Amino acid sequence: MGARRRQQVSGAGRKACACRSMRMTIAVAFAAALTMPGAAQDSMTRPGLPATAFPKPDRPVADIVSPIWHDEKERDDAGEPGQLVHLLGIKSGMTIGDVGAGSGYYVVRLAPIVGPGGRIIAEDVMPEYLRTLRNRVRDLGLQNVTIVQGEPHDPKLPVGSLDIAILVHMYHEIAQPYALLYNLVPALKPDARVAIVDAFAPTPKHGTPPNLLRCELAAVGYGEISFDRLPGSDAYLAIFAPPSVAGRPRPEAMVACKTR
Ligand SMILES: C[S@@+](CC[C@H](N)C(=O)[O-])C[C@H]1O[C@@H](n2cnc3c(N)ncnc32)[C@H](O)[C@@H]1O
Repeated sequence: MGARRRQQVSGAGRKACACRSMRMTIAVAFAAALTMPGAAQDSMTRPGLPATAFPKPDRPVADIVSPIWHDEKERDDAGEPGQLVHLLGIKSGMTIGDVGAGSGYYVVRLAPIVGPGGRIIAEDVMPEYLRTLRNRVRDLGLQNVTIVQGEPHDPKLPVGSLDIAILVHMYHEIAQPYALLYNLVPALKPDARVAIVDAFAPTPKHGTPPNLLRCELAAVGYGEISFDRLPGSDAYLAIFAPPSVAGRPRPEAMVACKTR
């Protein structure tokens, strides 16, 4: 194109070009967000409210000590994943958020079940755990796993993405449970379920007493759907229906629960 011709490109033409290139950028960013870990997710997340807006838990919070609960073989022998899949109705095509995924015990077992049409979004707050998990996912060639680094008060998961969120053997370690549960809600689809597996033990001993769990979930507007003892272990699976985004209680109205 000659210099004169270039100068003649009309304003409307320039606008059409800018529009096309913007549409391309959005499409590329969207595709990248589905396939890339970490920071690429930011375009699809909505930052949650800060931890300071919520009450602190009025009970001990366990330290983060390990990226895995028990030995993987022992858990397999006890049939833990099978029970979870059955009780939650996990199936092909679903998107599951694994909050506190650690070394990925559930990531590698659920990815083949949800299949190529589904996705596991594995989130944790410990960068070194996520590095190891990323290597595990790569070595296994899992194509349907996205890895996200969250914060103790905000899992930073993509808006409207999850059919189910699982929090397995990690609830007692959440430094800001009211904030995390509140900020998790926008990531959940309208009929999503939130599943919590924990041990029948006090929080400093890496469990959550069921009544304490119920009280904290209720404070953020979650309703209990079922509660099952998991055979072969000292743990339970509690399933909750989350509130809608608009139906969440106001943070300043929340009252922290005490261990009972
Ligand atoms: C005992 S491991 C359990 C890992 C895995 N879910 C399992 O079943 O083996 C607890 C995990 O929860 C993570 N964690 C603790 N607090 C968290 C929070 N607020 N948000 C996300 N992950 C958290 C820890 O970093 C750790 O990886």
